[in-house]
Amino acid sequence: MFITFEGMDGCGKSTQLSRFEATLKERGISLIVTSEPGGTKIGQAIRKILLDVDNTHIAPLAELFLYQADRAQHVSEVIKPALEAGKWVICDRYYDATTVYQGIVLEHPARQTAGGYEKLIEQLNYEASLGCEPDITFLLDCPAEISLKRIKRRDKTDKKMDRFERKSLDFHIKIRYGYLALANKHKDRFQIIDSTLHEDHVAKKIREIISPYLPVS
Ligand code: TYD
Repeated sequence: MFITFEGMDGCGKSTQLSRFEATLKERGISLIVTSEPGGTKIGQAIRKILLDVDNTHIAPLAELFLYQADRAQHVSEVIKPALEAGKWVICDRYYDATTVYQGIVLEHPARQTAGGYEKLIEQLNYEASLGCEPDITFLLDCPAEISLKRIKRRDKTDKKMDRFERKSLDFHIKIRYGYLALANKHKDRFQIIDSTLHEDHVAKKIREIISPYLPVS
């Protein structure tokens, strides 16, 4: 099984991902947990460039290609071999993040490519993922105001905000609706989870969805 977690920054993804990992381990599932950007050594170097707060001048296409370079390396080095070895792969963000985030960043391009940027992103997602399509994608959804509050609270405590998290409320609202539109387009694999609920309820919903795929105990 290949399972991805998506949602805007501050949606509670990390908490749910680690709870999900614990649930699967309890059930004896052989798995790996990984993330994008930065799931490999090469990817870590790419991640540094992408999330650097001094890189606000990064060209939109450079940003798109760096995410795809990270993914191409990640899929061939980590995801594909794990799936081929029969392991479950749980990935924190995958190509849907590119469709939504870079789709929005590239919304007002200086120059249109043949077929439009949407098509270009789709094609690059297809190439970089080497045919590895998620079986289930959990979209943790909440209003942008709530996720922004969570990000700001986190910033005061431990983790400093990265380049994306510093963006405006308007940007976060676009991300939210971008994800919801994408989920609507791929109803077969997306599961939208209301992440305004208490984290125990969110975890329970995710467990209910995955339970038919677990070995009987
Ligand atoms: P990260 O610190 O890993 O955040 P999170 O815990 O929210 O996943 O930072 C990843 C950032 O990169 C996040 O803001 C979303 C963004 N991103 C893209 O813009 N495109 C992509 O293809 C991916 C995978 C991530």
